Parts: sequence; structure tokens; C-alpha cells
Amino acid sequence: MSAQNHIQRMTAPQITARKGWEPIVCLTAYDAPTAAILDEHCDLILVGDSVGMVVHGLTSTVGVTLDMMIMHGQAVMRGAHKALVVVDLPFGSYEDSPITAFKNASRVMMETGCQAVKIESGSYAADTISYLTERGIPVMSHVGLRPQSMNVLGGFKARGRTQKVMDEIIANAIAAADAGSFCVVVEGVSTELADAVTKSVSIPTIGIGASENCDGQILVTPDMLGLFEWTPKFVKKYADLKDIVDKATQKYAADVKSRTFPSREYTYNFVKK
Ligand code: KIV
Repeated sequence: MSAQNHIQRMTAPQITARKGWEPIVCLTAYDAPTAAILDEHCDLILVGDSVGMVVHGLTSTVGVTLDMMIMHGQAVMRGAHKALVVVDLPFGSYEDSPITAFKNASRVMMETGCQAVKIESGSYAADTISYLTERGIPVMSHVGLRPQSMNVLGGFKARGRTQKVMDEIIANAIAAADAGSFCVVVEGVSTELADAVTKSVSIPTIGIGASENCDGQILVTPDMLGLFEWTPKFVKKYADLKDIVDKATQKYAADVKSRTFPSREYTYNFVKK
């Protein structure tokens, strides 16, 4: 170990130690300036594959590539210096074998400098989670609504409406925890199921559309900032960014059309400095 580069970031074991204690604050980020703002307030920043939908305009996360995740991961790492940064492994980059998962996860860690990866964890995932963890890669798991499986699940629908699916989700969370995940995202489940998952595992549950019965919460940042007309019902909007951007752009367009630019003198001084 060298004495250099001592950035005091939150670590995966510190997140695990928060189970049942102080709620864990998580948000997604995809670029450096946003990450720099969130960093002050978040314990964990996820470079989610939701980037495909909220930044690149895709209709699902299925088309997101490893190169896209690496580029956004690098940007977020340049902006965030305190929070634990986790990068999503995209669809097709980890499911077929632990070896493929390690090859791609280690590339993500080496090329971005992030501290952990996230995988959507069906029953097949336990071997991969232990393979990665034993080889130095902390894993955040993801159960319940798994957006990468939307074509099998029939869309972005809440999960756990039958006892069979509830039992499956609890079993997936337990398997992910036993395999060594440091925390688990629980997406799109009822209050009752969130409570059952949280009580069944020894690692923190991070809810999204999963009630307050989790050890922390994550939201997709552009959703909670109100960048879109439509957001999922469970999202509380903390700002109306769409309206702010719209009004500012309208004023800007009016200034340009009426030739209301900064004076030449001002422009000259600005350039000279
Ligand atoms: O991709 C993402 O942003 C996520 C969160 C919604 C948990 O997986």
C-alpha cells in the first residue's frame, strides 16, 4: 500500500455495517457534475444501467453496453470523492458464467476505479456473486423487479403478487446475501414483502418502490429531480427540473431573438481574463 491517493470514500463493509442502523442514502448518477453535487449527501452512488433510458433515450436497459457503463462510470468517479461508487453490469455481461462475470466486472473496476459492481440476481446468481467476492469484487445484488428481465416478466411491473413469487424473491435475496453480496437492491415489491426480505437477510436492503421497510433507499436521480413528465408512482419529486429547464430555455430563446446579448465590452473583458 502506498501513502498516496488517500481519498476517504465510503467502503462496501461500511455499507454492510449500517444494517438496521442509520438509513443508507443512495442515488444514481451518470456524469461528473451531477455526481459532485450528490456526493455531499449520499452514502452510495450507483452508475445504473438506467442510463440507457434516462440519458440515451432507450426504451429499456437491455441495449446498454459494457463500454457505455465504463464511460459513465469514469465520469462519475471524476465527480464523486466520498460516496461508494457502484457500477451496474449490463445485460449480457455476467449471466452466462462466473468467469465471464469476473472478466467484465474486473474490466469495469480497473477502467473506472469504482469500488463495486451491481448485478440483477435471479436464482442463477449465487455462484457468480461468491466467485466475484472471493476475487476482490464487492457485489451489490438486485432482486424483485429486475429491469433487465422485463421481456420475461412482461414489462416494468411490481413483483410478488403471488406467494410463489414472494417466496422466490425472498430466496433470491437470501442466496445473494449468503454468497457474499454487501447489500441488495429490492425493487418494485409490496411493503409486506420488503419487510420480509429485510428481516430475512443479514445485509442491508436498498429499496426502490419498496416502501420504507428497507435499510436504505435508491431513486433514479432524474426521476426525483422531475426531469420527465412521467415518473413511476412511488417517486417523490423533490424538484421540477423539466419546468426550470423549459423556462430558462424559453428566456434564452427570447434573448437571442431580440438580440439581447451581453455587451461587447463585457464579452471582451470576459475573454481577456
Ligand atoms: O439502473 C438503475 O438505476 C438501477 C436502480 C433503479 C436500482 O438499477
